[in-house]
Amino acid sequence: MPATVTDKVALAGFRRILGESAVLTDRETIAPYLVDQRRLYEGAALAVLRPASVEEVSQLLAFCNGTGIGVVPQGGNTGYCGGATPDESGRQVVLSLGRMARVRSIDAANYSMVAEAGCILANLQRAAQAADRYLPLSLGSEGSCQLGGNLSTNAGGLNVVRYGMARDLVLGLEVVLADGRVLASLGALRKDNTGYDVKSLFLGAEGTLGVITAASLRLMPRPRATATAFVAVRNVAAAVGLLNLLRETSGDRVSSFELIPQIAIDLTTRHIPGVSQPLAGEYPWCVLCELTSSRADDPLDSMLESALRDAMDGGLLDDAALAQNERQRAAFWRLRESIPEAQRAEGPSLKHDIALPIGALPRFVEEASAWIAAHVQHAVLVAYGHVGDGNLHFNVNARRDTDPLKLVASADEIRRYVHDLVAAFGGSISAEHGIGRLKVDELERYAPPVELELMRAIKQSFDPNGIMNPGKVLRSA
Ligand code: FAD
Ligand code: MLT
Ligand code: ZN
Repeated sequence: MPATVTDKVALAGFRRILGESAVLTDRETIAPYLVDQRRLYEGAALAVLRPASVEEVSQLLAFCNGTGIGVVPQGGNTGYCGGATPDESGRQVVLSLGRMARVRSIDAANYSMVAEAGCILANLQRAAQAADRYLPLSLGSEGSCQLGGNLSTNAGGLNVVRYGMARDLVLGLEVVLADGRVLASLGALRKDNTGYDVKSLFLGAEGTLGVITAASLRLMPRPRATATAFVAVRNVAAAVGLLNLLRETSGDRVSSFELIPQIAIDLTTRHIPGVSQPLAGEYPWCVLCELTSSRADDPLDSMLESALRDAMDGGLLDDAALAQNERQRAAFWRLRESIPEAQRAEGPSLKHDIALPIGALPRFVEEASAWIAAHVQHAVLVAYGHVGDGNLHFNVNARRDTDPLKLVASADEIRRYVHDLVAAFGGSISAEHGIGRLKVDELERYAPPVELELMRAIKQSFDPNGIMNPGKVLRSA
């Protein structure tokens, strides 16, 4: 439904609901809200709206629904698929949740907390820790991404192998629907089979079905023992072998298992101050793995050491360094977490955020790497990621000595090859970053037709006027 009011009337409506200071229109002030983190898209907007309460969000959506104004929810704006960026029409509004940043309650006995959508993830981790509890969601962007964005993208990150995705941490949600009604489902129950699990539809919906304003989250016992190692594995198959060995011998205490190729180590040591080569030699593939336990006296170091020795004897490893203290552990993690920043500093790159059954990863990497080497001389593969849960960032960077425009020119061909191969292996073309605007065509190409039909039906039923984040995930009707 096209907007039925003039800009002037719309702005007056927003100011009536929010007051003058929470309706931003100044060009310079709103500029950062109009461009995505990767700078793939630059949109325009009638205004950036900064509500401070559920009631204000509700009134805004009711107003936009009645007047046909598209609403683009935005959290920390760290998303990778352009989902939080408005289109170029200048007729949409950005709804920024940053002022709704209160932890409403923590129930230590129930291992749960209720927090608002605008809370920065790192602040929530700290709040849980202050209550002697643990919020396991952890990603490189945790200092700026927000809870609402994490849930709307169903973020993954570094601890999925043990604790699952963002979705798995949600007990309840508060959501404002497109027409302004509030779904108040903030219960903190672990068991609740009363009909369809409606709230789960908003997780991973990227703001296309409603605005998440708060969530009730599952917390865990705090890890009190940690053992971390940086390991040179023979190849990707050896990495998968090591994962299985560690899971079995540690009593499933593996909380992170990240694959890191030498080229990513080179990029981080080149571009990120203070990062250094973790092992004495250079090896094509390394793994950063971590065991954690809530028992302070759990002998994790010896568990890890003995598993690594067995893996070395079994021919899976070439070298390994165990973190001897917190400083070394932090150095390993700094290397891992700064790979995206280092890749960006190196120049343009193509991201393929793929997931496969873990056992299929070695063959996939072998085939796809060979294809890239044979067909894309102007680019290098930087494939790394959360192998513990089958998610690989099969990224491709422009070679330093070639014109980056060559990579841009071959982007479609590379994407098609990689995604077709992923599909052939029964994988996913978006493991954890979502669809946003970037992968609308890809979703249409690879999703089972019946699933797409159901998605469209859900969208139509939740948002009949099509005001919620138009053109994201699904093409606008
Ligand atoms: P935004 O970018 O603001 O928005 C993302 C989407 O959610 C948009 O579609 C937006 O409309 C919607 N949205 C935002 N808030 C709401 C709301 N309250 N209600 C409804 N819809 C809403 N992602 C991973 O999964 N794993 C990683 O390991 C990871 N590492 C990263 C590392 C770096 C350095 C960077 C820059 C990004 C990384 N990301 C990762 C991607 C990104 O941080 C996540 O997708 C994150 O969850 C986005 O949160 P955000 O608050 O920035 O959301
Ligand atoms: C990460 O895991 O570091 C990001 O999700 C991957 C990326 O930046 O491509
Ligand atoms: Zn990731």
